Amino acid sequence: MKNSKDIIYVGVNDHSIDLFEGYYKVPDGISYNSYIILDEKITVMDTVDEHFGEEWLNNIKTALNGRKPTYLVVQHMEPDHSANIITFLEAYPDAIVVSNQKAIKMMEQFFHTEIKNKLVVKDGDKLELGKHILNFVFAPMVHWPEVMFTYDSTDKILFSADAFGKFGALDSKDDEWDCEARRYYIGIVGKYGPQVQAVLKKAANLEIRSICPLHGPILEDDLKHYLKLYDIWSSYETESEGVAIFYDSVYGNTKKAVDFLSKKLEEEGCKKVVVNDLARTDMAEDIEDAFRYGKIVLASITYNGSVFPFMNEFLNGLVERNFQNKKIGLIENGSWAPMAARVIKDKLANCKNLAYVEPTVKILSSMNEGNKEQIVQLAKALKD
Ligand code: FEO
Repeated sequence: MKNSKDIIYVGVNDHSIDLFEGYYKVPDGISYNSYIILDEKITVMDTVDEHFGEEWLNNIKTALNGRKPTYLVVQHMEPDHSANIITFLEAYPDAIVVSNQKAIKMMEQFFHTEIKNKLVVKDGDKLELGKHILNFVFAPMVHWPEVMFTYDSTDKILFSADAFGKFGALDSKDDEWDCEARRYYIGIVGKYGPQVQAVLKKAANLEIRSICPLHGPILEDDLKHYLKLYDIWSSYETESEGVAIFYDSVYGNTKKAVDFLSKKLEEEGCKKVVVNDLARTDMAEDIEDAFRYGKIVLASITYNGSVFPFMNEFLNGLVERNFQNKKIGLIENGSWAPMAARVIKDKLANCKNLAYVEPTVKILSSMNEGNKEQIVQLAKALKD
């Protein structure tokens, strides 16, 4: 690390995983980060996924070169970070687990054993390691209720648990942060914007030189960039200008309407038009795009008196994550009783601050001249 000589990375890369949390596609894998703080009282920050216990313990052994850790700080109990707590205590039986009461309770739920050597901390507590002083900053629901951040006030390092993490192993070729960090954030923490805002306010009072998350790279340069994105994402504001269109189409007729709209939006001068076929694009990427852009269009066929299954999954994904603050255009298609627009509005009924843009385009089987005129009007309305 540039900003600390005493912090050593001992995490691991997972390239064998297909679905992170059993849902998110991670073609570039993921890292489970863990760190050692070298001091009079050597401290290990978090463990790693269950499949990497041996590699992680070897990393620790190499880094410590015969020395023994005093503390294991547990910031988050989701198993991708906590699965090796008992393995660690077997290797280092004198080590003390430092965590909060909620996390200790979860340890007992996961491992069915009492953690005897423990130091239970409260929000705002400090722990002196020698030169380094750790300050515990509780961050409930970023991403589970027991989550806490740890601020090393000596080297000004923020250990941020899942926050500021991204998909992608550290040795993957993809080193662009924003896209995979956004997909990670919106997918996994997106529902908890108010809680992220609360912890960002606490962090605003700290001088931070580096951020050490539990996934993805250590952040050391241009921290304002990452903090600003987290502020936008957690306040559900528009990150990028443009229109994102999400559609499903069985025989291609709804797709033709979407392609026509896309062309008209470009003619209207829309700088960015994103078109996602919900049956074929990554659902987490679709959901990410819906949060990213301020204007979206939903185009669906009518299916079993509802919307098509991929649109249904997409809408559920939005609602679950507190979707809000959007302008929305609607295109529905049906050969005898089109009702997708009404179903979409019903499904989004509890989302805050959604403004539907007129006209709603109602296609009967395939686009006619009247529909084309409606789509031209919709493109004009979305431009403003
Ligand atoms: Fe990376 Fe919420 O676990």
